[in-house]
Amino acid sequence: MKNILAVCLGNICRSPAAEGILKSMVFEAGKGHEFFIDSAGLLDYHKGKLPDHRMRKSASDRGYELNSLSRPVVAEDFKRFDYILAMDKVVFQELQKMASSEEEQQKIHMMSDYLSEFDYDEIPDPYYGIKKDFELVLDLLEDSCAVFLGKINK
Ligand code: 4NP
Repeated sequence: MKNILAVCLGNICRSPAAEGILKSMVFEAGKGHEFFIDSAGLLDYHKGKLPDHRMRKSASDRGYELNSLSRPVVAEDFKRFDYILAMDKVVFQELQKMASSEEEQQKIHMMSDYLSEFDYDEIPDPYYGIKKDFELVLDLLEDSCAVFLGKINK
């Protein structure tokens, strides 16, 4: 079993999209039973809420139904998950601070490190953006999630 946690700031835009895309990819590959995939945020402002309606719409148009509820990252996540995927540099740095050992720190990776078709060093926060910003997030996540799963499945 591989346990994967996607993390962004609010857990209503980027990381629930990453969760939905990763789940869809492993399911399509017939490997759903081999993975536990979840997402979380640094903030708890949106705790219990569905993803942002703009992200749900853009994702749904690509066949991803995002139904996870926002929750904050907790200390236990660093034990329970094998791979913790940070959507941007602030999230990466905060997760590094929250980790309680070097072993836990080594589980944290930048999602953008797995991009193959795009030259971005973060998954940009779309919250104050418009439709094209949400579409860009999905483009970046479809690329990086496929590369990430290819790497860890070897
Ligand atoms: P996310 O986007 O981190 O991709 O879920 C954001 C959602 C909410 C806020 C910031 C970013 N916020 O400040 O409330």
